[in-house]
Amino acid sequence: MTKTIRNSAVKFAIGTLAISLAGAMSFAQSGEATYTAKCKVCHGATGTPSPGMAKMMGIKPVSDPSMQKLTVAEIEATVKNGHGKMKPIAGLSDAQVKAVAEYFKTLK
Ligand code: HEC
Repeated sequence: MTKTIRNSAVKFAIGTLAISLAGAMSFAQSGEATYTAKCKVCHGATGTPSPGMAKMMGIKPVSDPSMQKLTVAEIEATVKNGHGKMKPIAGLSDAQVKAVAEYFKTLK
């Protein structure tokens, strides 16, 4: 009896772990997927805009010190509210905005 209970508790723990791992992975992927879908057109595949886009719209590469010092919260605010010539990006959930801001921070 005790043994059965312990076994099912172990199975439950393993199941929960697998689910949270899968969740963490799709979360990380969705930041990248959102970036590709919503940001790449202006900011370039790796965070460096094409020279034409950089000049025409005034977009800085992520390597620029002013971009490097932005926090995740500031990037989230830019995505939600827009910033200068960048219009707010529509159609993203709060979780997607956070994920894409975190992904943006990983770009060098
Ligand atoms: C239509 C083109 C366009 C798209 C799409 C776009 N951006 Fe921008 N982004 C800009 C421009 C232009 C600027 C420069 C704005 C300014 O400061 O005048 C900018 C600036 C920024 C900045 C710097 C703002 C600051 O606080 O200095 C961040 C961070 C940023 N974008 C993130 C994103 C993210 C993340 C996405 C996708 C969810 C995205 N952008 C999509 C055009 C775009």
